[in-house]
Formats: sequence, C-alpha cells, structure tokens
Amino acid sequence: MGAPAILVCTKAVESAVDRHMREQIAFLRDRVAKTATKAAPASNSAHVRGVPLTDLLATVEQIHREEVEHRDAAADGLPRGMPIWLRALDRLIYFATEVAIFAAYKGPMR
Ligand SMILES: [Fe+2]
Repeated sequence: MGAPAILVCTKAVESAVDRHMREQIAFLRDRVAKTATKAAPASNSAHVRGVPLTDLLATVEQIHREEVEHRDAAADGLPRGMPIWLRALDRLIYFATEVAIFAAYKGPMR
C-alpha cells in the first residue's frame, strides 16, 4: 500500500491519541486546580505514585505536543483528495486505536 498508507495510519493513530490525551490533560488540570491552595496557588500537595501532579501534567502536555506534531507531519504528507480506500483505512485505524485505548482502561490488567 506504500507511503500514503503509512502516513494515513500514523495520522489516524495520532488523532485518537490526541483526543485521548486532551481528556487526560483536562482531567489533570481540573485536579491541579482543585488541589491548589490560596496560600500556594502554583504548588500542591497532590501526588500520583510519588510524582507531583503538576509535574505529571507538564509531562503529559509535553508528550501531547509531540504526538500532535507527529499527526500534523503525517497529515501534511498525504495527498489532497485521498482515494476512498485511504479514507476507509484512516477511519478503521482510528477506530481500532480507540478500541485499544478503551481496552487499556477496561482490560484485565487494570
Ligand atoms: Fe507519536
């Protein structure tokens, strides 16, 4: 299937990752806001497995920026007016990635 298929798969995976990470960031920002105090608004005492919540948020935001760059780079390499099989592959891979993310949350390893 060649380079267009690779690019469309990258774009599809990264699009699902983008959606998922935006949810994570919104969740973490909400938690940081709720745990910040008036006396120390820039810090908080909340941790996740020993990592300060603010550090975790900064790390997730950095990873998200990188994933969006990957998605945009892949999308930039795709031809305009993609053929239907490429659009179908895009949707299939996006859906499969969403299923994988869902399974990671609901699967037996939780
Ligand atoms: Fe990536």
